[in-house]
Amino acid sequence: MKPSRDTSWHKVGKWYNEKVGDRGSYYHEHVVLPGVVRLLKLNANSSLLDLGCGQGVLARQIPKNLKYVGIDAAASLITFAKKLDHNPNHQFLIGDVTQPLPITEKFSHAAIILALQNIEQPALAIKNSAEHLVPGGKLIIVLNHPAFRIPRQSSWGIDEQSKLQYRRENIYMSGLKIPITMHPGLERGGAAPLRSQLTWSFHEPISAYTKMLADNHFVIEQIEEWTSDKESVGKAGRMENRSRAEFPLFLAIQARLDR
Ligand SMILES: C[S@@+](CC[C@H](N)C(=O)[O-])C[C@H]1O[C@@H](n2cnc3c(N)ncnc32)[C@H](O)[C@@H]1O
Repeated sequence: MKPSRDTSWHKVGKWYNEKVGDRGSYYHEHVVLPGVVRLLKLNANSSLLDLGCGQGVLARQIPKNLKYVGIDAAASLITFAKKLDHNPNHQFLIGDVTQPLPITEKFSHAAIILALQNIEQPALAIKNSAEHLVPGGKLIIVLNHPAFRIPRQSSWGIDEQSKLQYRRENIYMSGLKIPITMHPGLERGGAAPLRSQLTWSFHEPISAYTKMLADNHFVIEQIEEWTSDKESVGKAGRMENRSRAEFPLFLAIQARLDR
């Protein structure tokens, strides 16, 4: 397999670890992790492979007696994961999830949480999840909603006449590679962002992800769209709450390995 661009978050690992902490960022804690745990439906015989596991936030949310392996390309985040989690059933490994994985075993469940859009060749990560799931195994993917949250290409606008907050989309169908500066504050004063502050995001339309799943013998069982639970008050409150309820932040896909 051709190695893809280095998309690991190693260099922003300290910042990301502080942002996520032990229990997750705001949206991890309020929306993403409860949704993932509900969809996974783990039982006493389950085992979980977490691709792009970061500092292991999902591992700390699952029943303690289950076998869990988390793999991430960022050595710094794997170090933080090990510091935060001493469960002997949990293993954290450094690895590029688009390359053959540093494990041989198969799992009943796999998860790719808020990571597939940071991987240049997401189809290879999905292929790897298929190769390490037992027949009929379950894969949960959570994405920043590909239709409504396209970095640099989607934004809020306000229609003053109808008092509506709308979502503007400049593109949707085209795949995109988007460099993201992780510490925007450091850019002030006109200095160019340091390379070490960049991470990559890769936009694909939803149909591209469904094709990657189908190509790797997955059937989609369920798609959920998760909105923010935040609430605005004051003059613009009603308008903002309405648009918040209309435009989901996250797309969750539950797929089953059909072989
Ligand atoms: C936004 S973070 C999400 C991490 C974690 N799942 C969470 O929810 O906190 C994206 C992660 O994808 C990882 N990543 C990017 N490309 C990767 C690759 N090719 N192989 C493994 N991990 C990768 C990054 O290192 C980073 O930890």
